[in-house]
Amino acid sequence: MKPSATIDVVLTRPATPYSRNIFGHFIEHFHRQVYGGLYDPGSRLSNGDGFREDVIDAMRELAPPVVRWPGGCFVSSYHWLDGVGPTRTPHYDKAWRVTDPNTFGTREFVRWCGAIGADPYICLNAGTGTAEEMSDWVEYCNLPGGASRWSNLRAEHGNVAPFAVPFWSIGNENYGSWEIGAKQAPEWAALVRETAKMIRRVDESAHLITAARADLDWTLPLLAAAGPYLDAVAVHGYWDGLAEQDHPSDYLTAVGQSLKPQQDIVRTESIIEAAGFAGKISIAFDEWNLRGWHHPSGTSSEAIAARDRNDDNSTYTMADALFTASFLNTCLRKADVVSMANIAPSINTRGPLFVHADGVVRRTTFHVFALYAKLLGERVLHSVGSGAQLAGAEVPVVDQLATIDAAGTKISLALINRDPADAVDCDVQIAGRPITGRLPATVLTGPSPDSSNEIGSTPVAPVETKIQFTDGRTSLPPHSLTICHLDLP
Ligand code: AHR
Repeated sequence: MKPSATIDVVLTRPATPYSRNIFGHFIEHFHRQVYGGLYDPGSRLSNGDGFREDVIDAMRELAPPVVRWPGGCFVSSYHWLDGVGPTRTPHYDKAWRVTDPNTFGTREFVRWCGAIGADPYICLNAGTGTAEEMSDWVEYCNLPGGASRWSNLRAEHGNVAPFAVPFWSIGNENYGSWEIGAKQAPEWAALVRETAKMIRRVDESAHLITAARADLDWTLPLLAAAGPYLDAVAVHGYWDGLAEQDHPSDYLTAVGQSLKPQQDIVRTESIIEAAGFAGKISIAFDEWNLRGWHHPSGTSSEAIAARDRNDDNSTYTMADALFTASFLNTCLRKADVVSMANIAPSINTRGPLFVHADGVVRRTTFHVFALYAKLLGERVLHSVGSGAQLAGAEVPVVDQLATIDAAGTKISLALINRDPADAVDCDVQIAGRPITGRLPATVLTGPSPDSSNEIGSTPVAPVETKIQFTDGRTSLPPHSLTICHLDLP
């Protein structure tokens, strides 16, 4: 028997506006994300800034709202002064144990964000850095020339107008034993409070985020000490693949992770509430990806070969695409508390865009970002889904999101069928009325659940079509994402 699902879209509850920063990005100085990825002055495909133009064009297709940089673990021993001005000082990056030439620094990052149309989001070194060094970087970027020693330096470097970086975060995963300059909870709380205080004195309007996690012992003291200075807490999630796992999970195991992000959001939300900051502090899921593996550091041939395996396009299949759509649906349904999310990373490694010497490959997940950026309405409608569970994984077969446009006249539905082999019958009602008619739709799927996009072969691509609803019922193809639209009478 075919699996089935029922979706009720509710119009009596107010629609929730969401932040487009949920479709955000992350770029780290790790492997080929920056050097040999977006930045490659030696490539015939690069412009005068050394930026790959094909990468810029592809990123623009995603209408990227925001990009977090420069790490990740990389940032925890990064000194921003090494990456500004005409003379750059190479440094030995103690996270990944490679020498970074620092030719891509603050100015280049801000210019690249401008080229792709995104807001810059800088993550500060709270590992080996001090509160003063962190707030000096904000001075360098955001104060007008003449206002301070560091903003004067920026002007001397040829950038008279401030970089106006709106988003800042204090630290990255500083709770982790793997992180350079890892901290204990009380020490962390005090450092964040003092840093945030100094940053606020430099730029009151900075949107301030800090490294946190869905863990009471870490995040409660942090909020008690620094909560009044913060706009959001950052959490990270990688659900498939422990560090020691040397191969990606199969389709069912991978899509079976789809409910995990919701658990992290709900746990973090309850900590924010317990600390008394509900409605004041939001969640930035500022690193996330289904896959989280192959992190060896150093320049041994084994380390490089292991990092290169992250770039194996065949890893990123329809499972990644459907997990990505599920993740975005989850954040959008929790848009009252999730204000940002950053796919980690955007380019190469496990990202949606793979860069090679002669061009780029839009991996399966790329299309999900492009479709969500382009096709959804501005507000999320309350919707309730029920139906069959996926055999072999503890998740429902179907996941849904309903949005409505700003005018309140057009509903868009993002419907995921996680079943690897079977189409699913899906009954959809809007305010108790079954949908009927042929609706314009875009469907993303591939010949098999394990389909991936490679250089010269891209079987996973969106197709514009129409889908028939008869008395509320439609059929969703196996392992697919369908986005369809209907006008409200
Ligand atoms: O993928 C890279 C690393 O994963 C990031 O540097 C870190 O923040 C996360 O643990």
